[in-house]
Amino acid sequence: MNRSIVRIKKTQLLGDDSLSILRAAKIIRTGGLVAFPTETVYGLGASAYDTAAVHKIFAAKGRPYDNPLIVHIAELIQLESVAVNIGDTAYKLAQQFWPGPLSIVLERSDNVPSIVSAGLKTVAVRMPAHSTALELIKRSGVPLAAPSANRAGSPSPTSSKHVLEDLADTIDAVIMGGTCRIGVESTVLDITGNKPVILRPGGVSREDLESFLGQKVLVANKTYSTDIPSSPGMKYRHYSPHASLILVTGQKERRSKAIKAISSHYHQQGFKVAFLNQIIDEYLHCQADAIQVARMLFRIFRIMDYYQIDLILAEEINTAGLGLAVMNRIRKAAVRIIRA
Ligand code: TXA
Ligand code: MG
Repeated sequence: MNRSIVRIKKTQLLGDDSLSILRAAKIIRTGGLVAFPTETVYGLGASAYDTAAVHKIFAAKGRPYDNPLIVHIAELIQLESVAVNIGDTAYKLAQQFWPGPLSIVLERSDNVPSIVSAGLKTVAVRMPAHSTALELIKRSGVPLAAPSANRAGSPSPTSSKHVLEDLADTIDAVIMGGTCRIGVESTVLDITGNKPVILRPGGVSREDLESFLGQKVLVANKTYSTDIPSSPGMKYRHYSPHASLILVTGQKERRSKAIKAISSHYHQQGFKVAFLNQIIDEYLHCQADAIQVARMLFRIFRIMDYYQIDLILAEEINTAGLGLAVMNRIRKAAVRIIRA
């Protein structure tokens, strides 16, 4: 079929039909980079076996080389090509939560070049719950190394428009597959030690993991100190809009008082101030649950940039369910955390 190719600068815009996915798979097989939708956020994929292509991912994102990538598979059998010494727990978790927003950290197979895991002996693996992503992996015939498809440090993309805002011209193609259902990234769970540890809270809740595993699951580095992080990604400021975000924690009345004081201080100096929780309430018609907030959070961060907001004031929310992932992203975006 002779179809014209639409590009923004050098980046091909592809649909999510089978022919376009074949075209995308060909780009992957020839060492290129393709952004694709998943249920969490858009990923920037390259063949996980192709060192040169994986280099290009780090370059395109401006990502530090010490922050490892997640390997995406489409069938359970592929797990055995990318990881070794896979125990019962991994298979059980895979059976329960895949395809889905859970990345499992396992021992890395030598098939996966060390650049993918930033030199670590482990590899994070997940099977995304998105038909386009799964078809792309199958057609490519290789697992895909894929971080989120944003410039390092900026909010993860939950639509192809966000991908293009950050990466048009620096990647070969983007598959335009609509908005992401979950909106925050996968939960990264390390099961290589004695006890399972959540290295990054995400789309699968801690409660669901605990009830399935029948044991407590720790969340690493909850305070986000700069001590040696177990997940290299932990030490970087992430997900940040250009505006400075100040997070206010503590008891509700004191929080509200502090927010008022801070906002009037900056307002008087001529800064544009926005209130994250109010925006969430207005967008989501009040009483939003954490699932809805997760879906909108990164989009709201990008909208703040569009309106050239200088300061975003955020109040902590409940960390039950997906609230833990939401609070993790807000904390990481914050330039200051104030306990009222
Ligand atoms: O939902 C997601 O996970 C998305 C989609 C595209 O699948 N991907 C994503 O990738 O968010 P990225 O690169 O933005 O985040 C990967 C996280 C980082 O925090 C990284 O440090 C951690 O996973 N990670 C990857 N491999 C690891 C490993 N071997 N050990 C510990 N942490 C690892
Ligand atoms: Mg990322």
